[in-house]
Amino acid sequence: MAGEPVNVKEFQELARLVLPKMYYDYYEGGAEDQHTLEENEKAFHRIIIRPRILIDVSRIDMSTTILGYETSVPIIVAPTGMHKLAHPQGEIATARASAASNVIMALSFMSTCTVEEVASSCNAIRFFQLYVYKRREISAMMVQRAERNRFKAIILTADAPRLGRREADIKNKMIAPRLRNFDGLISTDVQLTDKGSNIEAFASENFDASLCWKDIGWLKSITSLPILIKGVLTQEDAIRALEEGVAGIVVSNHGARQLDYSPATINVLEEVVVAVEGKIPVFVDGGVRRGTDIFKALALGARAVMIGRPVIYGLAAMGEHGVRRVINMLKDELELTMTLSGCCSFKDITRGHVRTEQDGRL
Ligand code: FNR
Repeated sequence: MAGEPVNVKEFQELARLVLPKMYYDYYEGGAEDQHTLEENEKAFHRIIIRPRILIDVSRIDMSTTILGYETSVPIIVAPTGMHKLAHPQGEIATARASAASNVIMALSFMSTCTVEEVASSCNAIRFFQLYVYKRREISAMMVQRAERNRFKAIILTADAPRLGRREADIKNKMIAPRLRNFDGLISTDVQLTDKGSNIEAFASENFDASLCWKDIGWLKSITSLPILIKGVLTQEDAIRALEEGVAGIVVSNHGARQLDYSPATINVLEEVVVAVEGKIPVFVDGGVRRGTDIFKALALGARAVMIGRPVIYGLAAMGEHGVRRVINMLKDELELTMTLSGCCSFKDITRGHVRTEQDGRL
């Protein structure tokens, strides 16, 4: 590729060039036929923006709040595992870039830097993503470490009783690196199997497939932080999450890495938004690669989007600077989209600014 990357796709290409194949495949891949992986992006492409003209757009206000925290743009860095496979500074670089761009960072339970290292590296507003292990005391301890280290919310990932079948990782015999949060508690740097993905083997060994709705009560009993639930794809589960008293919902199919042929997230966002009737914020992730995608998600009722792979591509390509570039690129694209659509602030973006396939012909 000639010259500096000018969009997320070009950052992806740079990441592909610099990363060992095993790691690039791990980051990029989805489950099985990767149907949902493709659809996550393509479903955005099928939504059309309905711009309005002759509106004074000489000043665009991009400021917003998420769970009461001011951020520069409605983007949250999604929790993604093992950033040191992308760059030696790992999650510390991601956190510093998030702080510099004034966006919230969600730290993965499967991070390669510790909770304490990330917390002391910068003043980014941080959420902590939780997996529940069979040994619940480990998950409880991690929640308490996050709380002690001034993380502001817990994101309970609810779509991974087991890991989805990621065939590239199986072929590559993907190796789980050392996860230093669990030093002395769980072995992560051993070869659990020589048959396929070691990450899958690690998850089968440790993830608690018995996790269910009543465990939200358990989680509430061990933390006073707000709880977001990640992995909701239906109105039924959205209503149940609301009944359980969560502080927010993330419409997510885990970046298409869990159940293949689950819906593209942007196609079910509105169903969830309608179900929760504005009582709690709804976030969405999966396939966001352009500012226009963010605009479409906001028009369909999302409070903000989360971005997973684009951050990793920036990190792999240029470390902290690359993550900043990716976030700022998306922010600039969103600002331009708002300007060209006649929206001066987020409250101006309405359902009428997009046409989905479900809407049919106008
Ligand atoms: C993820 N995701 C994820 N989710 C989570 O709750 N905990 C985790 O540890 C991870 N790890 C992870 C690793 C990698 C490499 C990817 C690509 C994704 C899912 C992530 O939070 C988010 O839902 C998706 O990445 C969103 O889709 P996009 O933006 O990658 O298309």
